[in-house]
Amino acid sequence: MSIARSLKDADGVDLAFYKDLHPPLSDFKSDILDGLSRPQKSISPKYLYDRAGSALFDEITRQPEYYPTRTELALLDTLGAQLTALAGPGAVVIEPGAGSSIKVRKLIDALDHPACYVGMDISGEHVKAACASLSADYPRLPVGAVCHDFTAPLEMAALDLPPGKRIIFFPGSTIGNFDLSDALGVLKNFHSWLRPGDALFIGADLRKDASILEAAYDDAARITAAFNYNLVRRINRELDGSLNLDRLTYKAHWNPYRSRVEMFLVATQDQCFTVAGKTFTLRESETIHTENSHKFTPGTFIDLAARAGFISKQVWVHEKTPYSLHWLECCEKT
Ligand code: AVI
Repeated sequence: MSIARSLKDADGVDLAFYKDLHPPLSDFKSDILDGLSRPQKSISPKYLYDRAGSALFDEITRQPEYYPTRTELALLDTLGAQLTALAGPGAVVIEPGAGSSIKVRKLIDALDHPACYVGMDISGEHVKAACASLSADYPRLPVGAVCHDFTAPLEMAALDLPPGKRIIFFPGSTIGNFDLSDALGVLKNFHSWLRPGDALFIGADLRKDASILEAAYDDAARITAAFNYNLVRRINRELDGSLNLDRLTYKAHWNPYRSRVEMFLVATQDQCFTVAGKTFTLRESETIHTENSHKFTPGTFIDLAARAGFISKQVWVHEKTPYSLHWLECCEKT
């Protein structure tokens, strides 16, 4: 095991290790042109998160209607001793999509002498900054950063991790932003990083009244709307687009049959626009689908995880606002 503290890289970042696995960069232009050419126009939600979009998302999490973040934090606050027992001493925490979140700090605070923390993100700059900040807060914890797309396979031997129990931490119900078949793929991928007895500790938002869900994804301060409008500005700026924001609005709709909140930009009037030299039309009330947020029951989520090879060890549901955290154990591999 090669992890040691205080290995400063060329940027002076204090990390135990930094591995750049060179995730292929997505092609913004071809993805946008492809999505806008479909009968149901759509844009991948990953493009919502440029610098301004990430700041707007942080603001969303502070809106009174957006319950997931504060509910998950409140639930995490109640779990300390149970997490200590489930993880055991010397655990290795791996966080795909690592941010500067206080959630992982709550997990680390609960653990008995964790062996190391490994943050992972598709942006090397982002993951280094998030890990450097965690490392500064936990000077005795070895912190490593990996630049990788967590939806892609990963050869764990390349990380040379210490031998303790591996815990993948994936909070926020981010799993709900994937279509169900892709969510299964993400869970299977996480499973492939683990050994029998290792765990996935994951947040999954639960079904609730349509009025609560639609308000959470269309807050009164219109921050979620601004988050979507930012995507239009990004397309106009980066792809020489001419989408007219004055002829667009935003709506969130609960689809009970697919158990998901669906988010759209909606045309309030006809418009003809260009993106990267290609012409498109939007008819009044036509939509551009930007995001889904699936909601589960504890049972539907456990079933999904079981299909990926996990067995449910413990589920916690917030007593007032339905939101779940799951401790899923990696089963014997076949
Ligand atoms: C990141 N993800 C879990 C958020 C959610 O609740 O689905 C994304 C989001 N989009 C609009 N509001 C929140």
